[in-house]
Amino acid sequence: MKINENYLNLKDGYLFATVAKKTKEYKEAHPEKDVIRLSIGDVTLPLVPAVIQAMHKAVDDMSKAETFKGYGPDFGYSFLVDAIINSYAKKGVSLSFHEVFVSDGAKSDCGNILDIFGGDNTVLVPDPVYPVYVDTNVMDGRKIIYANANAENGFLPMPDESVHADVIYLCSPNNPTGAAYSKEQLKVWIDYAIKHDAVILYDAAYEFFVTDETLARSIYQIEGAERCAIELCSLSKTAGFTGIRCGYTIVPDALTKNGVSLNKLWARRQSTKFNGVSYVTQMGAAAVFTDEGEAQIRESLAYYQENAKIIADCLDELGIWYTGGKNSPYIWLKCPNGMSSWEFFDYLLENANVVGTPGSGFGNNGEGFFRLTAFGSTQSTKEACNRIRNLLK
Ligand code: MLT
Repeated sequence: MKINENYLNLKDGYLFATVAKKTKEYKEAHPEKDVIRLSIGDVTLPLVPAVIQAMHKAVDDMSKAETFKGYGPDFGYSFLVDAIINSYAKKGVSLSFHEVFVSDGAKSDCGNILDIFGGDNTVLVPDPVYPVYVDTNVMDGRKIIYANANAENGFLPMPDESVHADVIYLCSPNNPTGAAYSKEQLKVWIDYAIKHDAVILYDAAYEFFVTDETLARSIYQIEGAERCAIELCSLSKTAGFTGIRCGYTIVPDALTKNGVSLNKLWARRQSTKFNGVSYVTQMGAAAVFTDEGEAQIRESLAYYQENAKIIADCLDELGIWYTGGKNSPYIWLKCPNGMSSWEFFDYLLENANVVGTPGSGFGNNGEGFFRLTAFGSTQSTKEACNRIRNLLK
């Protein structure tokens, strides 16, 4: 018996697990302290009423033989797939039914999608980056190359024509930096992907945070994307589904390699290894796309956007450099006084009892940077900012 030795090449712990462990240890040692977490991007507002009502109805359906549901369709109930197609139509993107795959979230899909790519592909990821993109490729032993994101390029790296990649990860608005590509910049990436016969894995988990109407809400709003991009979407941050789990992935028909349809490969993979998302969850998810549901989630998003502004205003006042906070729930800041990311993590935890995420956990270029999230309560966000202000002024 042989283990997958690629796992031995992974860093010791998954970033958010390490942050959670350090926070727990601090809390155990200082039970009297009120620790505020602005670290993992986990939502705090409850599900909106439209979603709750739909889920209650779904539970009732499960209680009667006439409406009970067993296994659902592999790729999602038509009531949800149609709602997703309709939401894309509002963005000017036309999708066919079989191009939409409902799943239990973007994190799983982002790892699972690699099943349809050969192990000898070269993978390009920005640095810093959501650690799942890197770790899942390390697990498969793929070669990873990095696109440098830094303060000079606003943490929005552009392709280097002299470097070849087969699979490219883009996330916009970005996790962890909160920076968002313009449509023109995305077009440059699409042209690069087409020229290099590469596939872009486009993580659109934060698209609902886009308020600037000149920015893309889907990569398919840019010409040519359907020939080179797979889009991964999530209801986690959009509608508070972090604990419920539901997302969807779009694999366009036009995306083929050597005459093979990637849509067919993904369909084959999903119907073999995945049994679909629960009926109750999908009923809740469909409610997100109703007029009522969307109006309600817009209120929750506005709440988090206000928190982002509170953090951004605090950093402006302190003269600290940052990206994000607009069109994004993340604020990516430069650690003050030349501190390293983990030094600042400890300093903030011990002196302000505020937890953030060290930028170096997202890649080498994240060293010296730090991420705060706007997903806390407004009260705790204000309190965290007061403490940060007092500590750093
Ligand atoms: C984050 O904090 O980066 C996210 O919550 C992680 C995730 O979505 O898995």
